Amino acid sequence: MTTIRSAAQGILADDNTQQREQFIDLLKQAYWMEIETVMSYIANSINPDGVRAQEIVESLQQDIQEELGHAQQFAQRIKELYGVVPGSADFSAEQTYLQPPEHQTDIVHVIKGVIEAETGAIEHYNRIIQETESIDPVTNDMVIDILRDEEGHRRLFEGYLREYEAEGLA
Ligand SMILES: [Fe+2]
Ligand SMILES: [Fe+2]
Repeated sequence: MTTIRSAAQGILADDNTQQREQFIDLLKQAYWMEIETVMSYIANSINPDGVRAQEIVESLQQDIQEELGHAQQFAQRIKELYGVVPGSADFSAEQTYLQPPEHQTDIVHVIKGVIEAETGAIEHYNRIIQETESIDPVTNDMVIDILRDEEGHRRLFEGYLREYEAEGLA
């Protein structure tokens, strides 16, 4: 049997094991955020009632697929860094702001909840980008692309909120 040599440089180098484990933890947190967002967006793309809800519902339906894709990308990167994608028993919910509102016509609640979720993702992904900057270009590059999606989602829902504010409904 031949012994394989590990990379001397970069995040897979033996010297960077500790750093790699820290990145895996950050990626796991990102993974759970995406999974919870998928759950929240499914519920909030189906629960709302009323004509005003239609645009929001359709927008969330599209986002579900994107967020699911993000979860898969984070999971893949966890594995590439020699981590193990966690099982569902490790999941704990955090999105209190995206629970179903008391009245299903309360679209403003949903819009604000989505903005909060996207903001949390933007903050966490900026942190990953900063921390991986000099040592893990692959994770860095991947998360920059995902950050762009989240900034787009947030901007879209800010636009919806402005419309409701302009009409005195938010
Ligand atoms: Fe996402
Ligand atoms: Fe998003």
